[in-house]
Amino acid sequence: MAMASANLTVMIAAARKAARRLVRDFGEVENLQVSLKGAGDFVSNADRKAEETIRADLMRARPAYGYIGEETGEIDSEDGMHRWIVDPLDGTTNFLHGLPHWCVSIGLERKGEIIAGVVFDPIKDEMFTAEKGAGAWLNDRRLRVSGRRDMSVMLFGCGVPFAGSKHLPKFLRELAHLMPQCAGVRRNGAAALDLAYVAAGRFDGFWERGLNVWDIAAGALMVREAGGLLRDLDADAADPVASGMMLATNAEVAEPLLKLLREA
Ligand code: IPD
Ligand code: CA
Repeated sequence: MAMASANLTVMIAAARKAARRLVRDFGEVENLQVSLKGAGDFVSNADRKAEETIRADLMRARPAYGYIGEETGEIDSEDGMHRWIVDPLDGTTNFLHGLPHWCVSIGLERKGEIIAGVVFDPIKDEMFTAEKGAGAWLNDRRLRVSGRRDMSVMLFGCGVPFAGSKHLPKFLRELAHLMPQCAGVRRNGAAALDLAYVAAGRFDGFWERGLNVWDIAAGALMVREAGGLLRDLDADAADPVASGMMLATNAEVAEPLLKLLREA
């Protein structure tokens, strides 16, 4: 990355520390797969412990900042400005199944705007970072969204709604509509990494409904800082980070892609 700010340095250290522990726990998951009970409780515990260490590290470094995380809920800020947004383990289902694709995601918001983000995949040793105005980075490499315009060569990431989700029928129509027109669609199972991959140009775009702010805060900044666009899938005026109805892609294809998905 460029010169990391003091806040970004705190975020990177917290993500690395939590990830070290998660990697150890991930090694255990394989052994637990064979038991009848499975690894469910073990993984919820690993998730919770990871969030506890991240929250403690962040709050110790910046006691006046607020906090929201997937596992432990919200703390109001004392400075009325800043908030940490944390997903200690994004890609929980992958983790539970021994699939090596998951990450730690930490975002920082200031007056309602995301100003820094970290998405760390310790298995691939990929540290994605972004700061407002300073670009998006993968380790030491500056990121840029893909420049493709031709839908037929584009590769998209998506999220498949869970069984019983109200978003499922619409998603299936979108998939049926988009698949024949593009090069492929992937469901990798960690939304924070999906967005980081859009920033890196690995995916030409990503869409998913019903996401939570901790899934997307850090990744959203990466996409913007890599020159990409974020749009609400359904409502032009809405902020997709707040609504969780996320489309992320490059500027060339945003309009046609949005139209195609809305037609479905
Ligand atoms: C989930 C993952 C998944 C996405 C879900 C999220 P979790 O987060 O990001 O890719 O499809 O919507 O809830 O539960 O693994 O932290
Ligand atoms: Ca998540």
